[in-house]
Amino acid sequence: MKILVTGGAGYIGSHVVKLLGKRGYEVLVIDNLSTGHKEAVLYGNLEIVDLAGKKEINKVLKEFNPDAVMHFAAAIEVAESVENPAKYYRNNTVNTLNLLESMVDNDIKNFIFSSTAAVYGMPEKVPVKEDSPLNPINPYGQSKAFVEKILNDFDKAYDFKYISLRYFNVAGADPEGELGQSYQNATHLITRALKTAKGEYEKLYIFGTDYPTSDGTAIRDYIHVMDLAEAHILALDYLLKEKKSDIFNLGYGHGYSVKEVVETAKKVTGIDFPVEETDRRPGDPAVLIADSTKAKRVLNWKPKYDNLEFIIKTAWNWELNKKF
Ligand code: UFG
Repeated sequence: MKILVTGGAGYIGSHVVKLLGKRGYEVLVIDNLSTGHKEAVLYGNLEIVDLAGKKEINKVLKEFNPDAVMHFAAAIEVAESVENPAKYYRNNTVNTLNLLESMVDNDIKNFIFSSTAAVYGMPEKVPVKEDSPLNPINPYGQSKAFVEKILNDFDKAYDFKYISLRYFNVAGADPEGELGQSYQNATHLITRALKTAKGEYEKLYIFGTDYPTSDGTAIRDYIHVMDLAEAHILALDYLLKEKKSDIFNLGYGHGYSVKEVVETAKKVTGIDFPVEETDRRPGDPAVLIADSTKAKRVLNWKPKYDNLEFIIKTAWNWELNKKF
């Protein structure tokens, strides 16, 4: 079984490539290495390809002729998307359309899409179910919601089959210590907290203490990257077997506040790093928690690492012993 993985040199993509490789899938990674690392590709081959170029995409699809495409390549920061929406609509929407059109042209019609909880915006009800209305409140979420709409239309028009996985807050690192998050300027809470513990930043800012939550800080559903990776393999097998498009939330169904994450990071690292409370960050919803009952029921997803301390421990281990 041949799988083309875009963005496979990045954080989530590289963890999925490792699982695919271990399970015997033949993998080709395409990545422009704008944020990814070639050392992160532990299985299969890597070609440097940018999804802005349809010619290049066509060439790869023709030559490799995959059974399915898993699409991770994207820009992922909510705050940056508010400041630079053009980057998000180009990278995440236009470039994905390039890929999808080339797939149809080459008669490759199985697709796993990295979507996001950010498509829900400020959900009226939490935990959020897949049929909740999509009301993204930042360009990042909107750029992915557009793709979901395109996918729905492609299914109807071209018999194109896809699974859209709406990730909640992905965190942690490969428990075997081979992979982890490695961005120049990481903005995610757990990574930022651990880098502050390491002394790479002077202090950690808590963005907003006036949210309507018990301690006033925003609540997120943090999911370990390996549980997320496992769900991709299940989704792929489901797609290839059932030949049906579908959408699944991936999270644990409960959340932690920013303050709780900070306390746990201090406990795990044993370092009382400096923290400062400041204003809300634009584009941030108060609470995002997944209802992932559907993934458990339909895909038989059985998450193993639903434990914030474990998530932070694996990320800390990676911070201290990074390979790239
Ligand atoms: N936060 C801080 N200080 C920091 C960094 C973050 O207080 O230094 C806060 C944020 O304001 C937010 C929470 O911690 O309330 C989590 O922020 P992250 O940046 O870690 O993650 P986001 O919730 O903004 O976004 C992440 C991914 C998106 C995804 C979303 C889905 O970046 O790709 O989760 O929930 F869509």
